[in-house]
Amino acid sequence: MLPRALVPAVLFLACAHQSVPFEDPPGMSEGDLHTHVAQGSRRVRHVNLDLTLDFEARRARGAVELDLFVPRAQIVGHGSTLVLDSQGLVIEGVTGADGKPRVWSLGPEDPRIGAALTIMLEPGDAKVRVAYHTTDKSAALQWLAPEQTRDRKQPFLFTQGEAIFTRTWIPLQDSPEIRITYDATIRAPAPLTVVMSAEQLGRGADGAWRFHMPEAIPSYLIALAAGDLAFSPISPRSGVWAEPSLVAAARDELSDTESMIQAAEALFGPYRWGRYDVLVLPPSFPFGGMENPRLTFATPTVLAGDKSLVSLVAHELAHSWSGNLVTNGTWRDFWLNEGVTVYCEQRIMERVFGLERATMERQLARQDLEKEMRELEPWQQVLHPDLRGRHPDDYFSSVPYVKGALFLRRLEAIFGRERFDQVLRGWFDGHAFQSAITDDFVRYLGRELLERDPQKAAQIDLDLWLNKPGLPGDAPRDESPALAKVDAQRDRFAQGAAAGSLDTTGWVTQQWERFIQGLPDTVSLQRLGELDRAFGFTASHNSEILCDWLVLATRRRYEAADGRLAEFLMEVGRRKFLKPIYTELAKTPEGLARARAIYAKARPRYHAVSAGTIDKILKWTT
Ligand code: BES
Ligand code: ZN
Repeated sequence: MLPRALVPAVLFLACAHQSVPFEDPPGMSEGDLHTHVAQGSRRVRHVNLDLTLDFEARRARGAVELDLFVPRAQIVGHGSTLVLDSQGLVIEGVTGADGKPRVWSLGPEDPRIGAALTIMLEPGDAKVRVAYHTTDKSAALQWLAPEQTRDRKQPFLFTQGEAIFTRTWIPLQDSPEIRITYDATIRAPAPLTVVMSAEQLGRGADGAWRFHMPEAIPSYLIALAAGDLAFSPISPRSGVWAEPSLVAAARDELSDTESMIQAAEALFGPYRWGRYDVLVLPPSFPFGGMENPRLTFATPTVLAGDKSLVSLVAHELAHSWSGNLVTNGTWRDFWLNEGVTVYCEQRIMERVFGLERATMERQLARQDLEKEMRELEPWQQVLHPDLRGRHPDDYFSSVPYVKGALFLRRLEAIFGRERFDQVLRGWFDGHAFQSAITDDFVRYLGRELLERDPQKAAQIDLDLWLNKPGLPGDAPRDESPALAKVDAQRDRFAQGAAAGSLDTTGWVTQQWERFIQGLPDTVSLQRLGELDRAFGFTASHNSEILCDWLVLATRRRYEAADGRLAEFLMEVGRRKFLKPIYTELAKTPEGLARARAIYAKARPRYHAVSAGTIDKILKWTT
């Protein structure tokens, strides 16, 4: 195996990739533990997908054609085998460009990273075609019955690739260090619209939908959705896809998207992906958002009606720089995606919505981090964790997000915003369309920032920030006057003031969150009822407020919320909400019984990502 530094640089010839005869693939850091692709495998550079969606069988079937790098020289690391990642797929056959079969074998399925699909290439092979179909083990895919959509007319399908699920719907080299361009042809039943994280070429005369992604992206960003979808524009380069009955409201809620793009461009450099659209999914979508390039996937729970939760769009948009343009090389470097993105999200929010809102959001984020950190094992509290023997999802928490962002804010505080902005922008420009690992970032920081000002450099302990559990003492703290006002009213309530007498005029979502989260664990049922009557928490249509309230209601056994809780868990599949509610329920025997009864019905409605997490909380076995 070649050390990273010795791998020859790619020869980027000035012509289009299809016509380049010989190229060496960029090197891999050897550090990705979550792929079967070894240094000895030939490398894929372009993916051409051709699938038919069968909603009755809940199966996608077709083929993927993979274009390979043709190495300039047969140096170490370029053999005549091609190794792909595959999980939960049925491989039907492999052929070469000559249409003749190639010898292949599928290794044993590792429950974490799936199976290696090894293909014996013949001399001169620059392309292979793998025919396959998905199965009910294809965890990336969620097939929804019409009843699980808002308009209840058509079925729906979406994919979730990050972190290592793309291999469950496409056999390919599923490492964030391997970048590919892609084309796709997708056939779906006539009433459905198909969208992907690519240029939408529309529906051809043959009825098939076609897509083209000209930028080199990591495989986890290949994404697809199919359903009854309508589009509404926000600006010439931005708009919203959603079910027809939701699209107008979704557009209004997300109408600041163009301003966010402009703010982001001013801070981080040009937006390099052409369009930026948002797809609002049915409520079972397991995440708040997913930064699929050109087309962010978003939960409908972001639509609060008052734009109060749109920092989620700022976040996914920010990934157009941190994550999609410069990608974490391995899942160990996840903070380079999410921590940098949270930092950028907060900068966008500050620019578009002002310092008061940004400060509130930052203070709440830190509060969440501190609370969550108390429950995490030491290894999970580290920004650059050891993932040996672990699934990337085992590391999912606010640590890479918020601790990562606080690390950058600390650097900003030491070196000054102006200088730090230049350095961050330089990071994006200098690593555009590349993957990078934590060491790359540390070296870059050293060169651009630390070595140039040793006095300032002495104020930060990189090893403490990156490799140690807990939150360093120099993590910046925000004090939001708007949240301080909330605390004052909550203290009055705790001292016996009537709910109706509290001064809550003009409170925004983040203030209500602060209020509910800070209520004492001893608050009586009668007082909860009083709050509910005064502020309508149980009936709230704001998902963040409702979730906080349902957790509290569960903890205090406030039965008036039981019906709403069951309804929410049946409807919404966003893991961030399911996790705290099920966790709170599971703390008492009665709660656990109630949770299991609801889960028995709700589980088939959740995406595999969410079901996997809740299975563990409820010790559910299937
Ligand atoms: N990229 C993440 C979602 C993700 C992370 C999916 C890891 C699979 C594995 C996305 O950008 C994200 O962070 N979403 C957040 C919202 C955000 C506002 C913090 C979420 O879904 O809660
Ligand atoms: Zn993110």
